[in-house]
Amino acid sequence: MTMIEARNLTHAYRVEDREVTILRDVSLSVAAGEFVVIEGNSGSGKTTLLTLLSGLDRPSSGRVFIRGREITHLDEDEMAPFRNRAFGFVFQSFHLVPSLNALENVMFPAELAGSDQPRQSAEALLRRVGLLPRQHHFPHQLSGGEKQRVAICRALVNRPEILFADEPTGNLDAKNSGAILDLLLDLRKERGATLVLVTHSAEIARKADRRLLLRDGVLDGGGAP
Ligand SMILES: Nc1ncnc2c1ncn2[C@@H]1O[C@H](COP(=O)(O)OP(=O)(O)OP(=O)(O)O)[C@@H](O)[C@H]1O
Ligand SMILES: [Mg+2]
Repeated sequence: MTMIEARNLTHAYRVEDREVTILRDVSLSVAAGEFVVIEGNSGSGKTTLLTLLSGLDRPSSGRVFIRGREITHLDEDEMAPFRNRAFGFVFQSFHLVPSLNALENVMFPAELAGSDQPRQSAEALLRRVGLLPRQHHFPHQLSGGEKQRVAICRALVNRPEILFADEPTGNLDAKNSGAILDLLLDLRKERGATLVLVTHSAEIARKADRRLLLRDGVLDGGGAP
């Protein structure tokens, strides 16, 4: 089954009176349960592509389908079930809630989704990434890599069907990166989740089913697996 399909995505940002085209006619098909990595130089449009595939932003033109349903024209309310339940996101800049501690940040989406045991699920994830001793720290009391690990736990707490992660190990050493990769692969194995990762890590890319390369706004390797 095709989980994510993008057809002819073009995206331009407007800055002052100029339009800058970032993605050109990008088409992509990702199967359910597939692990896809997006690579490319800084500024090549990886984050932009992830925001379009996950419905966080709309393309200038082109269409995105999730499980065959077009999401390109959905409004906020119609997107909510995808965002709150089906999708997990790890943002490049983490987006933790500053007024919540690490444990509360991870529990928050589980509580929103009405999960039975939000605290237990959150604690189990924090334990796996070695952060249980930091659970009561607020984001400003955490290192960059610790914030990144909290953000990953938060993205995983509802066991999403699709995980979109933007350089999820960008701030981590080899040991912590390995622990994160294990977590992601477990989600895929146990849940059959589809993984779409932007990464510069050769080690992670080696584990992927497919590697896509963005170059000058054009995607190599986007076709069906
Ligand atoms: N909101 C915006 N308005 C205008 N230009 C933008 C905006 N967001 C991104 N850009 C531009 O679009 C291009 C692609 O940005 P994007 O963040 O997608 O790159 P990236 O591949 O994720 O880079 P990196 O590896 O550094 O994270 C960059 O040149 C950036 O300056
Ligand atoms: Mg980026």
